[in-house]
Amino acid sequence: MLKDGFGRTIETLRVSITDRCNLKCLYCTINQDTVFLPKHRIMTYEEIMKISRILLDLGLSRIKLTGGEPLIRKDLPKLIEKLASLNEVKDLSLTTNGTMLTSFMAKILKEAGLHRLNISLDSLNPYTYRRITGGKLNDVLRGIDNAIESGFNPVKINTVLLKNINDSEIFDILNFAVEKSLTIRFIEEMPFSKTPYSGVSNDTVFSMLKPYLETDKVVKDDKSPGPAVTFKVKGSNAKIGFISPFSRPFCMKCNRIRLSTDGKILPCIATNKGVDILSMIRNHSPDQIIIDKIKESLMGKKLMHDGFKNPLKMNLLGG
Ligand code: 5AD
Repeated sequence: MLKDGFGRTIETLRVSITDRCNLKCLYCTINQDTVFLPKHRIMTYEEIMKISRILLDLGLSRIKLTGGEPLIRKDLPKLIEKLASLNEVKDLSLTTNGTMLTSFMAKILKEAGLHRLNISLDSLNPYTYRRITGGKLNDVLRGIDNAIESGFNPVKINTVLLKNINDSEIFDILNFAVEKSLTIRFIEEMPFSKTPYSGVSNDTVFSMLKPYLETDKVVKDDKSPGPAVTFKVKGSNAKIGFISPFSRPFCMKCNRIRLSTDGKILPCIATNKGVDILSMIRNHSPDQIIIDKIKESLMGKKLMHDGFKNPLKMNLLGG
């Protein structure tokens, strides 16, 4: 087992496989003229496999692929197939904005061995969806249906509420979850974007939704233990989760490390201090030296995030 300096067991690796995205969400760094990485600084699939191999040998067992938008990356199913074939990988999931998730792509991802899909959906109103993301609502709604039809279960939806933009849609989103038997997680906005912060506290969302939830029992998700506190919706298969980095920080239970698009290991989503593993791999450093550096980085993992004083770009880091 891989432990950090506070005894937290690290189980999950989140990999941002590309910094490119077809959307420009208000709360993401890409919203401000992001300069993308030159191609040669992005990890190849072989390099991602090599780094994953080292971390799996150290005891990690869950991998989440993020971006940017991971479906933009060429031959993604090939990477998924390689990762899924590793015995140590107990859980392999992907977070996508869903707009490029055709029924063909959803089937190929399933066949390649992807276990789970998380899809971002911030509004059910086409105008608001376009305002937040720059994209077309219908594309992601189709993507969600394609994910369900291809047999992904559960399909989890991530929603970031922004004051006076989509925070009037809480009950529409609840209704959408019920209609489609989905798990929706409300994620408190983290300040990655330079646009004015407009996050909504999950305490507010929870008190609005409480009458509709079975709040006496938290739903345990053994397949993918993460930061969400999740409840069943009364009389339905739908679930609502709350990911609350500010109102209910969950750093004490943090079980993850991150690998940025350019191959740096970061111990926390709120830091920009990473260990450049990719350069070490390209310089043919011995595995033991790489392992020592990874462990050193984990020893530097703080007990709590610092309020995002100096984060890396969101799209390099993944959500
Ligand atoms: N705050 C909270 N959540 C965010 N995500 C992206 N940027 C932010 C932010 N600033 C979420 C997206 C996506 C996941 C990868 O992370 O909604 O679902």
